[in-house]
Amino acid sequence: MSHLVAPSILSADFGHLERDIVMLNNSVADWIHCDIMDGLFVPNLSFGFPVVEYVKKISAKPLDVHLMIVDPDRYLTRWKKAGADILTVQYEACVHLHRTVTEIRNLGMKAGIAVNPHTPVCLLENVLPYADMILIMTVNPGFGGQSFIEVCLDKITALRQMIDKGGFDILIQVDGGVDTHNADMLVKAGVDVLVAGSTVFGSSDPAETIKLLKYPEEKKPGE
Ligand code: DX5
Ligand code: ZN
Repeated sequence: MSHLVAPSILSADFGHLERDIVMLNNSVADWIHCDIMDGLFVPNLSFGFPVVEYVKKISAKPLDVHLMIVDPDRYLTRWKKAGADILTVQYEACVHLHRTVTEIRNLGMKAGIAVNPHTPVCLLENVLPYADMILIMTVNPGFGGQSFIEVCLDKITALRQMIDKGGFDILIQVDGGVDTHNADMLVKAGVDVLVAGSTVFGSSDPAETIKLLKYPEEKKPGE
């Protein structure tokens, strides 16, 4: 299976959100990544249910909702109703993670678990059978446009081994500082889903940039 690309609308133009979603619909993007921030788990606020409901109405692609919020159990049903297809919670925000991911699946969504750069992937060992995706954060969550933290590469390799050894059907997603220069290397390290915000929406041709992320091996020298 070729890897997936999930542009993050955190960096979209919210004054022209419909235009940006239509661009994603017409691009080779696979999912639309929605970053939800509560000002507590991360030092920033983003957007909530009304925006995701609106995106769902016009999106032709699955919604990949990344919760950077404390106590996400309070809102799982609401995110399902808002249109989430994949719902990812932060490992560090969940006291009873097994219960949380089981509930996400029971509600009919794919369950993702995100780990911050400082959280080792070995801590996921006992929850892997209940997860559909692991999101390795390659920046400290909270803001778009930050630099990729290189040490997280080792975590991708370690997680790939854990998943393959256990025979799990789990996608590895990376989020933070992904661009057209590191995409190929990340895919070769074992990543299944690339999230990219500022690289896509800061580009003069976002649809073309999504294509470069989707087919990084075809990138010409100098691009
Ligand atoms: C960061 C968010 C990311 C963000 C990525 O907290 O989870 O999804 O949008 O932005 P870039 O691709 O600009 O690093
Ligand atoms: Zn994200």
